Amino acid sequence: MQKIGRNDPCWCGSGKKYKKCHCDFDEIIEEHKNLGEIVPPRDIIKNKEQIQGIRESGKINTAVLDYVASKIKAGCTTEDIDKWVYEETTRLGAVPAPLNYEGYPKSVCTSIDDVVCHGIPSEDVVLKDGDIINVDISTIYKNYFSDASRMFCIGQVSEEKKKLVEITRQSVYLGLEQVKPWAHLGDIAQVINDLAKANGYSVVREIGGHGIGLEFHEDPWVSYVTAKGTDMLLAPGMCFTIEPMINMGTHKVNRNEEDGWTITTADGKPSAQWEIQVLVTDTGYEVISH
Ligand code: MF3
Ligand code: CO
Repeated sequence: MQKIGRNDPCWCGSGKKYKKCHCDFDEIIEEHKNLGEIVPPRDIIKNKEQIQGIRESGKINTAVLDYVASKIKAGCTTEDIDKWVYEETTRLGAVPAPLNYEGYPKSVCTSIDDVVCHGIPSEDVVLKDGDIINVDISTIYKNYFSDASRMFCIGQVSEEKKKLVEITRQSVYLGLEQVKPWAHLGDIAQVINDLAKANGYSVVREIGGHGIGLEFHEDPWVSYVTAKGTDMLLAPGMCFTIEPMINMGTHKVNRNEEDGWTITTADGKPSAQWEIQVLVTDTGYEVISH
């Protein structure tokens, strides 16, 4: 990395002088790096202007989730959900990020019961009483990306599945409380994994969260099974998702070889996921989409 003069423009693109922008930030990063820690690369640190764009994208993403929440019920198909997401996202001037992403054929992921994530909407899949479904929505607005998902309980759901959904939601917000400058990604993972284990559940290992903002999936990759104090250092301007998948039984999962996307639990037991997008601020966190 080349040395920047104190009066040179900051590397973040703010237009401010380095000494008035990320100079102190870089000193702290350097200290942690010298301790052997994994530190965030500069290209994932968002500046003010980018944060404002990501915020606006996140607002739309949350609004589309609210729209789905107002309509979802037994009897509708996952294809209906896909249509709602496409129509509401485009009505708000944005584009569904999943559509055509690496060949993904739809605008949203809909994952029922033992489907862990990346379920593909279909007119053949009808929501029925007792289902638990994750609706995972991602938005591109003015080239800024946002991503969040919620679980919905359809009609009368068993106490067992309701508890899985609720514990998973709680784990995300417990993880969120760990987000502050100079903490670590492992701090988030540890509280999530601990809560899952305390309830006899397991956390999926192969699929995790991700940095997001200027692209759909950026560094870091976010595990929910790493230990407190380990994994990447958190710094102001980082933006990523907290999206653990928690299984009632084994943590092991399979990928559907025919469609290439759908992930299911290896033992056929239910799985739940909630996802929020967060920004690390100077003092803690800001929820970008939920
Ligand atoms: N929101 C999902 C994720 O971040 C989207 C997966 S890509 C898709 O994992 F193409 F499946 F939508
Ligand atoms: Co995501």
